[in-house]
Amino acid sequence: MSRVTLTGITTTGIPHLGNYVGAIRPAIAASNASSDACFLFLADYHALIKASDPKVIQASRTEIAATWLACGLDPEKVVFYRQSDIPEIPQLTWLLTCVCAKGLMNRAHAYKAAVQDNIDAGNDEDKAITMGLFSYPILMAADILMFRGTHVPVGRDQIQHIEMAADLAQRFNHIYGEGLMTVPEAVVDDNMPLLTGLDGRKMSKSYGNTIPLFDTEKKLRKAVNKIVTNSLEPGEPKDPDTSTLFEIYSAFANAEEIANIRQAYADGIAWGEMKGVLFEKINAELAEPRERYAEIMANPSQIEDALQHGAQKARAVSKPYIEELRNAVGIA
Ligand code: TRP
Repeated sequence: MSRVTLTGITTTGIPHLGNYVGAIRPAIAASNASSDACFLFLADYHALIKASDPKVIQASRTEIAATWLACGLDPEKVVFYRQSDIPEIPQLTWLLTCVCAKGLMNRAHAYKAAVQDNIDAGNDEDKAITMGLFSYPILMAADILMFRGTHVPVGRDQIQHIEMAADLAQRFNHIYGEGLMTVPEAVVDDNMPLLTGLDGRKMSKSYGNTIPLFDTEKKLRKAVNKIVTNSLEPGEPKDPDTSTLFEIYSAFANAEEIANIRQAYADGIAWGEMKGVLFEKINAELAEPRERYAEIMANPSQIEDALQHGAQKARAVSKPYIEELRNAVGIA
């Protein structure tokens, strides 16, 4: 069986350095190096579960598409599309919903956490929980099964969702015919660097401690200057392994450069100087994509062209396949 790599990006928020190092850069490198069929899409239906301001939804979709293109995603090599441009996905979602045990969804971590938060706060346990949140894993399963994804690169927090997609594929096959659906597996990279944020906690939008990917050079410098250090003076030896500056530097440098900076820490490099070194390193890698990003955002029709091109390629797969599935369940 040929490999089909597929992954989705929920279109909320503005991409930050942690997203770049942990997801965007490795995914693009993998897609450029791989001979698999690669599907990469903007999960904008999923975004609706998390945000309800149409302007925010719209802007985030455009910015995230521009970010991936600016970082070197090749829309000829990867089928790059918007989930909402593929009407077969919500159709498949319903077919899967009808074979999905409610109990399976009751066990989803994200849903359970939301219920627990309500209980802890003394609220009704269903407070503010939409059916979108509850059924989130079914929509995600449809994303994957629609294109017969075999390998799904995701973060650890998403493994359960891929297992649920595999469950649903098996269940569907059991009822309607073996081989109708392909059972996917999660691919988790244990070496995926997780960046620390400005305040020393994990870099995350929800902590407000991120370094935006494509802010101006000036703002990038300012953000780097805000990264917490300690009170050790210039000349005093410093520990690279507990230093956020060193950690982020390592995500952008080669082995030799990392060894040199390790030595500089032992020799007591001043925090101010190290911040300058880190800024230069990040900026050297981001300057060009930042310029491309600005170009693309100034001329967003190229984003639309790329996505329409992707949707066309995706629908060449999804249209005949949904017909096959409709036929299998008796609604051809
Ligand atoms: N739920 C994923 C996330 O939040 C995004 C996503 C949606 C996805 N559909 C997918 C990932 C299908 C992989 C495959 O990260």
